[in-house]
Amino acid sequence: MDPDDEVCLCFHVSLRKLTNFVRRTEPVVASQLSECLGAGTGCRWCVPFLERLHRQWSAGEPMQLPVAPTEYARRRANYRRTGVRDADATTEDSGGSDASRPSGS
Ligand code: FES
Repeated sequence: MDPDDEVCLCFHVSLRKLTNFVRRTEPVVASQLSECLGAGTGCRWCVPFLERLHRQWSAGEPMQLPVAPTEYARRRANYRRTGVRDADATTEDSGGSDASRPSGS
């Protein structure tokens, strides 16, 4: 996912916006990321990803989601349709190979 790709698709909040928000506000808990343009307060698909980004920042790591935007959007669409997340959608090691990994659906 590139900086201008959207992490919160409901409110069009990009990774760059989230990164800048975190640097500026230094949120103590991940839920504070909702103060960045409402991220995570819609369908809630992105909440585990926001939590992941917050964990990365808290650990001093670069904030990144190694998933292709199209795959991310496809998974969200599936989540919205079924109410069920892919089992590996939010695990820490679901990284760079996500785009080519079968979704299980
Ligand atoms: S994608 Fe973020 S709340 Fe729906």
